Amino acid sequence: MTDINGRAAVVTGAGSGIGMGLAKELARQGATVAVADIILENAGNVAAEITAEGGKAIAIHCDVCERGSINAMKEEAQAALGTIQLVFANAGATSFDPLMDMSDDDVDWILQVNLHGVMNTVRAFLPGMMAAGGGHLCATASTAGLQPGWIPVHAPYSAAKMGIIGLMMNLALEMKPHNVGTTVYCPGGVATGMKENNARYRPARFGGPGETEVHIPADSFKGKQIAFLTPDDIAPLVLNAVRTNRPFVFDHPEQVESFRDTYARVVEASYAEAAAYFAELAAANQV
Ligand SMILES: NC(=O)c1ccc[n+]([C@@H]2O[C@H](COP(=O)([O-])OP(=O)(O)OC[C@H]3O[C@@H](n4cnc5c(N)ncnc54)[C@H](O)[C@@H]3O)[C@@H](O)[C@H]2O)c1
Repeated sequence: MTDINGRAAVVTGAGSGIGMGLAKELARQGATVAVADIILENAGNVAAEITAEGGKAIAIHCDVCERGSINAMKEEAQAALGTIQLVFANAGATSFDPLMDMSDDDVDWILQVNLHGVMNTVRAFLPGMMAAGGGHLCATASTAGLQPGWIPVHAPYSAAKMGIIGLMMNLALEMKPHNVGTTVYCPGGVATGMKENNARYRPARFGGPGETEVHIPADSFKGKQIAFLTPDDIAPLVLNAVRTNRPFVFDHPEQVESFRDTYARVVEASYAEAAAYFAELAAANQV
């Protein structure tokens, strides 16, 4: 079991959406919370709401694409709240364009914010957690990382989110002796402001903030029923997975068939082909 009550937590991308829901629920469950975001004003509003509800939270600016920015955020968080033992690497941005229509800057941004952002965050906070005798890392990946192609024109985003899953599955093993648990959260559709606000999150070195709304291709969800959940719906589910040290948390039970199908097809087709190839090779060598 991982304690939440009485622990200090950080949530990146907590100025809105899923991160905001997690930060508020952490405070409700007795954690003190560093609300970190690239848009400080939004982080400040969330911290103020938590404080108004009787919780303890501070708002800190950070750009997860920059190691220096995360380290500065960590120093500020730990000075105010003590050693952070619950880390939610949640900040992210999306893309819904064919890969070859994207600028180099946008491809770099989507990989940096989603994958390196999680890598930078866990590497900043792990030494403190290990020295404190343990803690828990939770990273927000996506159904798009588990089932690439489930939603089309998502290439760098899917690549980054799948990368998070690999990173966290490795860390689960590596961190066991240090009593640090890991959870990967794979949202399958949560109603947030990401579509409208996405371009506003782009850091200066990738072209700076813009106003363009993300356009999801009209036929993207064809044949798939997505009932969008709210950040308040999913936050207790995610925290329950953290408390009970579960490696994965999914939120849309109706997506199970498509998940099974994706991997069953890959496993059966690819291993059957390999088995046939090696059987043929062995037979040829015996002649
Ligand atoms: N909403 C969904 O259906 C969904 C589905 C799958 C995965 N996700 C993932 O959930 C996470 C949260 O997204 P959301 O839906 O709540 O969207 P959101 O737009 O409401 O929240 C994203 C937050 O991240 C912050 N942010 C962006 N770039 C940052 C940076 N460089 N440094 C620090 N903060 C940064 C933004 O300011 C914003 O507050 C993301 O990682 C996203 O990829 C969301």
